[in-house]
Amino acid sequence: MRIGMLTSGGDCQSLNASMRGVAKSLYENLKDVEIIGFLEGYKGLIYGNYRKMETRDFSGILTEGGTIIGTSRQPFKLMRTPDANGLDKVKAMKDNYKKLGLECLVILGGNGTHKTANLLREEGLNVVTLPKTIDNDIWGTDITFGFQSAVNIASNAIDCIHTTAASHGRVFIVEVMGHKVGWLTLHAGIASGADIILLPEIPYDIDKVVEAIEKRTREGKSFSILAVAEGAISKEDAALPKKKLKEKRAQAAKKYPSVSYEIGAKIEEKTGQEIRVTIPGHTQRGGSPCAYDRVLSTRFGAAAAKLILHKDYGYMVGMRNGEIVKVPLEEVAGKLKMVNPDASIINEAKLVGISFGD
Ligand code: F6P
Repeated sequence: MRIGMLTSGGDCQSLNASMRGVAKSLYENLKDVEIIGFLEGYKGLIYGNYRKMETRDFSGILTEGGTIIGTSRQPFKLMRTPDANGLDKVKAMKDNYKKLGLECLVILGGNGTHKTANLLREEGLNVVTLPKTIDNDIWGTDITFGFQSAVNIASNAIDCIHTTAASHGRVFIVEVMGHKVGWLTLHAGIASGADIILLPEIPYDIDKVVEAIEKRTREGKSFSILAVAEGAISKEDAALPKKKLKEKRAQAAKKYPSVSYEIGAKIEEKTGQEIRVTIPGHTQRGGSPCAYDRVLSTRFGAAAAKLILHKDYGYMVGMRNGEIVKVPLEEVAGKLKMVNPDASIINEAKLVGISFGD
């Protein structure tokens, strides 16, 4: 049995651990299995760039960050658009799949990746996917691998800021990854005792943010820490039509490198307090997976292999209430799992005094 494997989209910590989980389970339970690793995601499948993997390739990678077969972003919206040389990408992927005599494709990726995986399923290929992303925004699973490792890194960054913020009596903003969803910011913010958490799902009012800082000052606290998601948005901006918002954002980008700098400038203007911005950026996606992710990836990998052993295709493996589930790809593709502003975690965070600026 020949199986194709690829990792697509932004990388994260537990990709190798997940591939290892799939491979080890297949080698253990099938007499004759060969794994083809497509290089740099869908690009490898489109252009026929691949590597025949050996059993040893999957040894010693449980703790290794990144992906041993590389990754790239291949936007779903351009999949039906021919490349610069007129190549039909979808046809090319199907041709390579057939030419190599693949039984199925194991695809590890996030939201965009799942849209293309579903497209390949619709085109008749056998596909099994695993949910990857530090953003934890894939619909159909409570958790994605990479998320918990990133929470640890972002929390650690905020912990470090805490000591310096306290020493200097400053307001600090730590910008956490997540343009569309705030899971990472929410969890890292709570884990590291942030005072204010701003998420894309809960538009903020700058006066409420300032109020929260001033309340702390009145209580004798000399510093405040804000955990701000890359996609944090003001109430005012959230009410704008898409086109207007895009124009406003383009203008702001000329002045501020990111949303945190803009928020910082507004706070400085309104409070006269000294503001510092820290952006851990891609460190959040790097390094070794945490123990939780290693377990999760091993379970996801084994579950994906089980689907292959049963020739049960067209699913993403996921986790719901601590149990592994299989979710039809057509249900996953095109949906985002966002933070619900009315969720109990938000309520509990508010009860301990965290402000969401709303
Ligand atoms: O999808 C994961 C993610 O890390 C986002 O949180 C972040 O905004 C984005 O990728 C950054 O992507 P890039 O690799 O293109 O800089």
